[in-house]
Amino acid sequence: MGLININNGVVVIVIVIMCLIGMCVNGEDGEYEGVEGGAPMVKTEQEALYSAIQGFVGAGWNGSDLYPDPCGWTPIQGVSCDIFDGFWYVTDLNIGSIQDNSLTCGPNPKFSPHLFQLKHLKSLAFFNCFSTSPIAFRSGNWTAFSGSLESLEFRSNLGLTGPIPTSFGQLERLQSLVLIENGLSGGLPDNIGNLRHLKRLVLSGNRFTGKIGDSYGYLSELLIMDLSRNSLYGRLPLTFGGLTSLLKLDLSENQLEGNIPSEISNMKNLTLLDLSNNKFSGGLTKSIQEMSSLQELVLSRNPIGGDLMNIEWQNLQGLVVLDLSSTRLTGGIPESMSQMRRLRFLGLSYNNLSGYLTPKLAELPDLTSLYVYENKLAGELKFPRGFYDKMGRRFGAWNNSDLCLPFGLMPMRLGPFGVKTCREVMLSEIEQYFGLMADSYVPLLVYMSWVVETQLDAR
Ligand SMILES: *[C@@H]1O[C@H](CO)[C@@H](O)[C@H](O)[C@H]1NC(C)=O
Ligand SMILES: *[C@@H]1O[C@H](CO)[C@@H](O)[C@H](O)[C@H]1NC(C)=O
Ligand SMILES: *[C@@H]1O[C@H](CO)[C@@H](O)[C@H](O)[C@H]1NC(C)=O
Ligand SMILES: *[C@@H]1O[C@H](CO)[C@@H](O)[C@H](O)[C@H]1NC(C)=O
Ligand SMILES: *[C@@H]1O[C@H](CO)[C@@H](O)[C@H](O)[C@H]1NC(C)=O
Repeated sequence: MGLININNGVVVIVIVIMCLIGMCVNGEDGEYEGVEGGAPMVKTEQEALYSAIQGFVGAGWNGSDLYPDPCGWTPIQGVSCDIFDGFWYVTDLNIGSIQDNSLTCGPNPKFSPHLFQLKHLKSLAFFNCFSTSPIAFRSGNWTAFSGSLESLEFRSNLGLTGPIPTSFGQLERLQSLVLIENGLSGGLPDNIGNLRHLKRLVLSGNRFTGKIGDSYGYLSELLIMDLSRNSLYGRLPLTFGGLTSLLKLDLSENQLEGNIPSEISNMKNLTLLDLSNNKFSGGLTKSIQEMSSLQELVLSRNPIGGDLMNIEWQNLQGLVVLDLSSTRLTGGIPESMSQMRRLRFLGLSYNNLSGYLTPKLAELPDLTSLYVYENKLAGELKFPRGFYDKMGRRFGAWNNSDLCLPFGLMPMRLGPFGVKTCREVMLSEIEQYFGLMADSYVPLLVYMSWVVETQLDAR
């Protein structure tokens, strides 16, 4: 007991000393804004906050008038504070019209030098702030935040242009870097890969270009990587196998090329893999069959090539969405695809797939969309009638010239769009065989179609 009391005493003394130091350093004249019942705020911090906000909102915004106690009884929407050594400091700053009473940016927002004096700032976010007059990151002193900032977010700021400064690589406490739909350009700085605590890296919808550096594969704590909708090119670094914590990887709508590296299967917890709209080639990587956490696999619109046959699709028991449309696939559709029990969306359209469509797909309990149009599938569709009724237009099989619906299964107008009945397919084959409908063949044709029809009716 005695020991604990001594320790508590030491702690109190340390806090008192730290407060004294804090006062000496921060309040030049020992001056601070005291408020009854709450912690005080150092005057320099308070003025830095007002000036920083004024930089975004405009000179007409008078903080000291409107919010005399910003961390206490006159809180500012979008500003959060915390107590350090007995004084209030700003920890979160959210600028932009998220809510009715949010701080809305004026016509000429700037990064005031005072912003970078908020030394306990952990989270800084801008929504729809820099829209008209262009502004660049380099106008700010970002290294000042290296010891504190954990989250930095810019959404929908089309006026925010230029590259990501290399100084972002020094924000070593950063856990979340989100730069969505801004006007940013240039390459991705390699030293972002030094931000080892990064959990979320979202850079989508800008004009970033160049290659993804090897260092990005060292972000071993990363949970979400979204670099979609940029102009990134080159191959995926093999180091990506080091992103073992990743849950979501979205690189869609870039110009990335080369193989999908087999190391990708090291991402054992990955639930979303979206590489659509790129230039990936070299066939489907067999190792994707080891990614048993996958729920959405979207590889559409890539010249991937190869076939579906050598992958054990039944291993992907969590897969809900599989989109392989426009991927230059050839060969058949394996039965194992009908063993992915959670599948809801299967997109295989715009390929060169041939052979039959297994009727077992109709047994998938959750399947709501099946698209196989524009392929070379052939033969009679063997789904039960109820399947077509259930799916409607969400079963797309048109433009498979040799695929047909059994004659008499259902009225044509209720059958799948663009699929002929088997009788019509046979007739057209007969027509092709005999060339154009020359008069002399008409009686023969009539006879043959009668044979085909009676055969079908007999079944
Ligand atoms: C804000 O208002 C106070 C008191 O009304 C005034 O003294 C101060 O000069 C004003 N500041 C600005 C920047 O307009
Ligand atoms: C930027 O911030 C750092 C750290 O706070 C400081 O040492 C440096 O002088 C600042 N640079 C400028 C140009 O203000
Ligand atoms: C994968 O997820 C499991 C369960 O959530 C977790 O225990 C494990 O640490 C994760 N693996 C990695 C490499 O993060
Ligand atoms: C199918 O293959 C042919 C011949 O190789 C090719 O010209 C065509 O573009 C392919 N179609 C699709 C959708 O990949
Ligand atoms: C099928 O393909 C042809 C030729 O490529 C095209 O004209 C037609 O619009 C496509 N769609 C349907 C439903 O037939």
